[in-house]
Amino acid sequence: MILFDDVTKTYPGGAPAVEGLTLAAPTGRLTVLVGPSGCGKTTSLRMVNRLIAPTSGRILLDGEPTEAMDVAKLRRRIGYVIQHAGLFPHRTVVQNIATTARLNGVAKGPALKTARELLERVGLTQVFADRYPYQLSGGQQQRVGVARALAADPKFMLMDEPFSAVDPVVRGQLQDEFLRLQREIGKTIIMVTHDIDEALKLGDQVAVLRTGGKLAQLATPRDLLARPADAFVADFIGRDRGYRFLGFAEFDDTLPVGPEPSVSLGATPDEARRSATDRWMLATDAARRPLGWFDTAALRAPLREGDLNLSGTLVATGGTLRQVLDAALSAPSGRGVVVDAAGVLLGTVRLSDVVTAIESARGGARP
Ligand SMILES: Nc1ncnc2c1ncn2[C@@H]1O[C@H](COP(=O)(O)OP(=O)(O)O)[C@@H](O)[C@H]1O
Ligand SMILES: [Mg+2]
Repeated sequence: MILFDDVTKTYPGGAPAVEGLTLAAPTGRLTVLVGPSGCGKTTSLRMVNRLIAPTSGRILLDGEPTEAMDVAKLRRRIGYVIQHAGLFPHRTVVQNIATTARLNGVAKGPALKTARELLERVGLTQVFADRYPYQLSGGQQQRVGVARALAADPKFMLMDEPFSAVDPVVRGQLQDEFLRLQREIGKTIIMVTHDIDEALKLGDQVAVLRTGGKLAQLATPRDLLARPADAFVADFIGRDRGYRFLGFAEFDDTLPVGPEPSVSLGATPDEARRSATDRWMLATDAARRPLGWFDTAALRAPLREGDLNLSGTLVATGGTLRQVLDAALSAPSGRGVVVDAAGVLLGTVRLSDVVTAIESARGGARP
């Protein structure tokens, strides 16, 4: 755990850049510091590895005050990733990644071997190993920056706007890859961003800072969306808050999944109308995987693929209320189709029941 204990930083002649910050970043979790430009995010981060000294207060790593540690040793325990990757321009990609291991006294051969393995972990192939940073795209450089931070297998990672300098499409990919990686490696991470969507997507918990480095709110993404602490946080989160909240609310057993009859392709109009509960009927394949809805009233001949309405989305158990809502809204029947992990039909949920589940999820999120 990384603990900020009442930390204040005042630069000479200025107002506090960070004031009275108390915050715990739990072990194995990703904590995001988010806030407007100049609110003290970078200052907070750099106090952890002592690139900046606090004016008052302490920072503890797993209970140990950082001020008492040897600076060089402290920094080797902490991976550090910055915005433009900060790679050494005159060193190749693998040499860059191997830097920390070499500083830690690892022999050249083993250090380079580990570096090559790390390259693949961050989604790059060996083709890049002997290139120089200027021969890489921004996104590739960021991946190398992450690999370099991981090279000494640190328990802690500090990441300062690691994905901000790349275009939105690449940023999305880097975020997805990083989430996957973090699920495997489970580092204790503090990441800084000014992008609330990135914070909500990546953070196990999100700390919203306001100018002067004061903590406005610390919460899970779900709780932040459901109950922002004040007008500043609500404004910073921005629009579609209520709707985005549904993406974090689970679809659980409080939402009734009713039985839904279905027929196979080739069913006659009579067969279809006999088992239908209303005008809309579901068609499934031999494994009972949904194919689409069809209108029993319009059916004149045995059911063919061309009769199917393919607009409805499906939701798997364990999905989010947002997916359930979409499944119900997109089905011509108004019933959202629920499947299991293998895609087999479990039943349907009614739109009115989805709305009830949403109301109770919001209720559960209130104090
Ligand atoms: N070395 C410095 N000397 C004086 N003021 C600084 C220095 N670094 C940052 N600041 C000021 O401290 C405040 C917080 O900066 P910073 O931590 O970089 O914010 P953020 O990363 O949230 O954009 C800003 O007002 C900035 O101008
Ligand atoms: Mg900054």
